[in-house]
Amino acid sequence: MDDPQTKVLPIALASDHGGFRLKSLISAEVKRLGLEVFDLGVFDELSADYPDQAKLLAERVLSGNSEKGVLVCGTGIGMSIAANRFKGIRAALCHDEYTARMSRLHNNANVLVLGGRVLGDAAALGILNVWLSEDFEGGRHLTRINKLEALG
Ligand code: RB5
Repeated sequence: MDDPQTKVLPIALASDHGGFRLKSLISAEVKRLGLEVFDLGVFDELSADYPDQAKLLAERVLSGNSEKGVLVCGTGIGMSIAANRFKGIRAALCHDEYTARMSRLHNNANVLVLGGRVLGDAAALGILNVWLSEDFEGGRHLTRINKLEALG
């Protein structure tokens, strides 16, 4: 039986139609890395409303059943606005590997947001790999996260 202390939880994924294609690539990459995926949709390119999928993913992360999630919409903007309305969610819209790295080291981002109509596939997968491999530095950054969470 898995030790609950060490079990790596599935990475939650969700997108709207604008992010569906990139979400499929991300899903394959997460599995290639040996991690489990929990896919909250959408599952086709029919028009969808990004707040619906952002809510599902935020609730999944806040439930503790996934420690991290990835959201994709056309620009990433709608998904990040929606996800950051949930207290305890720190969603980072990243356009390059530097911002992805810093969002983990300094912001302890628990949700990565990508723009499916903004990023090339290789850039998006590079950002994903960096984001999944970096850890929070803590220290002075924990003080800031605590202040952030106290904002409401
Ligand atoms: C959908 O057309 C598009 O508005 C959405 O994917 C996202 O970019 C919103 O921020």
